[in-house]
Formats: sequence, C-alpha cells, structure tokens
Amino acid sequence: MANPIVVTGATGTLGRPLVATLRARGLAVRALSRRGEVRADLTTGEGLEDAVRGAAVIIHAASDPQHPEHDVAATRRLIEVAQRHGVGHFIYISIVGIEKFSGMAYYRVKLDCEALVRGSTLPWTILRATQFFELLPERMFPVLGRFGPLVVGRGWQIQPVEVREVADKLADIAAGPPAGMLPDFAGPELLTWEQMARDWKRAGGTRKPVWALPLPGAVSRAMRAGALTAPAHTDGKLRWSQWLHERFAGAAP
Ligand SMILES: NC(=O)c1ccc[n+]([C@@H]2O[C@H](COP(=O)([O-])OP(=O)(O)OC[C@H]3O[C@@H](n4cnc5c(N)ncnc54)[C@H](OP(=O)(O)O)[C@@H]3O)[C@@H](O)[C@H]2O)c1
Repeated sequence: MANPIVVTGATGTLGRPLVATLRARGLAVRALSRRGEVRADLTTGEGLEDAVRGAAVIIHAASDPQHPEHDVAATRRLIEVAQRHGVGHFIYISIVGIEKFSGMAYYRVKLDCEALVRGSTLPWTILRATQFFELLPERMFPVLGRFGPLVVGRGWQIQPVEVREVADKLADIAAGPPAGMLPDFAGPELLTWEQMARDWKRAGGTRKPVWALPLPGAVSRAMRAGALTAPAHTDGKLRWSQWLHERFAGAAP
C-alpha cells in the first residue's frame, strides 16, 4: 500500500469531510486526533511518532480555538516529528486576511503557525480559506446571542465557503507537488454577518431577535472593510442559501 496521508484534526468540521474525500479517492489515510481513529495529542506528543512514521503527506487541520496558545507549540512539535520522519509534503490550512487582525489572538497564532511551516525544512503548501458556513451558526451565533438578542456588527462582511469544497481542494493539493503559498480560497458571494443571522433566523435556526449594531474598534473596522474576504477568489460553488436549504431540508415547515 502507498504511504498514507496523515490528516490532523480528523474529527473536526474540516477533518471529517477531508478524510472522507481522500478515502473516496482510494487513498490510505491516518485520521489523527485525540479522540478519533488514530489517537495522538499534538500538545503532549503522545502517540505522535507512531502516527507520523511512514507518512508521505501531512495535512495539518488540527486546531484548538479554546486554547489558541497551544496551536503554535503543537504545530512546532508536528513539524519536528515530520522532519525526523522525512515527510515529503506538509500542507497547512490557514485563514484569509489574518494579517489584518493583530488584535485577535487566534489569528496571531495562525500567522505564527504559517511562519513555522514556511521556516521548516519540509516541502510545504499553505492554503488560506475563508470561513466555513458552519462557523457563524454553530460557533459565533451562540456566543453572540448569549445575553438575549443575537448581536452582530453592522456592515461586517464575510465570504463563507462550503467545507467539502475546501476538503476537495486540499485533496487536490495532496495529489500534487508542494506549492508554497497558494492563492486565497473563498466562497462564491459576499455576505454580511447581519444577512447570515437574519437568514439563519428565517430558516428556523434561532428565535432570537437580530440586532446589527455599529460596533467600535479596530476589529470591527477591519470586518466592515472586508478584511476576511477575498472577492477576487470566488472558488466555492455552493451558496449560503443552498447550504441553509440542505441543513433544514426535511425539517418540519
Ligand atoms: N472553521 C472555519 O471557518 C475555518 C476557516 C478557514 C480555516 N480554518 C482552519 O481549518 C482548521 C480546521 O478547522 P475546523 O473548524 O475544522 O476545526 P475544529 O472543528 O475545531 O476541529 C479541530 C480538530 O483538531 C483536533 N485537535 C485539537 N487539539 C488537538 C490536539 N492537541 N491534538 C490532536 N488533535 C487536536 C480536534 O480533535 P480532538 O478534539 O478529537 O483531538 C478536531 O479534530 C483550523 O486550522 C482552522 O484555523 C477554519
């Protein structure tokens, strides 16, 4: 059997469809996470040597947004192990526009991880994607609505993308040679957080009132200016309305 592809973060929003896509293409995959098929912990290093030994490619999609400070050490450790085992291609998934948000810890960490990959002796590729459709409804809206109304920044822009399309792109990258820093990968349309919140509510995702407020600060300014978007790169095909339709298909009207 050909040397396997190691996918870190294999139980995550991206990791699950990525593992499925690679396997559907007939490739051998080691699906790595702390609680998944191949168990390894990037923070402690437990199980990591065995998980990486003999791998041809690593796609590093693990992340711990609750403890972003762990991601830098985890990426450093993974790179060290990969270098020791002579991995031929290290692929890192990052986020569009992160250099424009110096005040956000998670984005600073992503930049630091990118720098580790670029500075390693491994042949590498970095793909920056925009937000997956799941991010706002599943992660941001519950937080933004925790005190009552669902509060979003007025005019905040976003260009969300279907995660299965990102997985497809990563599988294509894994099949090719290391390519360095790739062009941004973004969804098919520019939206606002307000529009996504209102559509989510209309579809039945929340009963909370949606408030779009003119929020102050540098992060809010960057969001309004479209720092998370890449309008010249409308790679994704699936639209937000279609994603919502898929999500709620079969739900009671
Ligand atoms: N979500 C987005 O909108 C978006 C957009 C662009 C780029 N990205 C990037 O894409 C990547 C994946 O994002 P995601 O949303 O799919 O993440 P996610 O759903 O939060 O999944 C994170 C994964 O990392 C694993 N993990 C966390 N800490 C670990 C550790 N110490 N050791 C081993 N595995 C660990 C988790 O599995 P266990 O808990 O089982 O260990 C899980 O499989 C991230 O790098 C993110 O920055 C995300």
